[in-house]
Amino acid sequence: MFAEERARVAVLDVDDNSGEETIRLIKGSGGEARFFKADVSNATEVKNAIDQVETVFGRIDILVNNAKAIRAEADPEAARRAAESCHPANRLGWPEEIAQVILFLASDEAAYATGSVLSIDGGYTAQ
Ligand SMILES: NC(=O)c1ccc[n+]([C@@H]2O[C@H](COP(=O)([O-])OP(=O)(O)OC[C@H]3O[C@@H](n4cnc5c(N)ncnc54)[C@H](O)[C@@H]3O)[C@@H](O)[C@H]2O)c1
Repeated sequence: MFAEERARVAVLDVDDNSGEETIRLIKGSGGEARFFKADVSNATEVKNAIDQVETVFGRIDILVNNAKAIRAEADPEAARRAAESCHPANRLGWPEEIAQVILFLASDEAAYATGSVLSIDGGYTAQ
């Protein structure tokens, strides 16, 4: 969605396949993106990746921290159902539902919104 708005997107991911897949999807829809491998739980790797992003793109205007902790589940389907059952909406969120809100916060329409905390969790924290 950011690429559709002509943002140049730097994708950080610990997993080469996931990172490259994201780049493929963005470029496939005409966007501009580069993959930088980094484990976001490792401060040195993050700093090195950010330095590379600034070298390649010149600056960073919008930063989205959205990595998921990798945990091996014995039964991924049961884990998904358990996670869904915790939500008032009875489902997990779609990436687009998160990206739309981030895009709005980064837009001119939200220029006067600063330092706000906005939950995008299907009502989970409001229960
Ligand atoms: N989808 C939901 O409804 C939901 C609900 C609660 C929380 N979340 C949170 O939202 C975020 C994204 O969820 P998602 O469903 O899009 O996850 P996803 O599994 O689709 O994507 C997570 C990505 O993060 C990468 N990653 C994992 N560990 C990393 C690390 N240490 N460093 C760099 N990259 C790493 C993975 O390789 C993967 O590409 C996560 O923080 C998740 O916990 C999502």
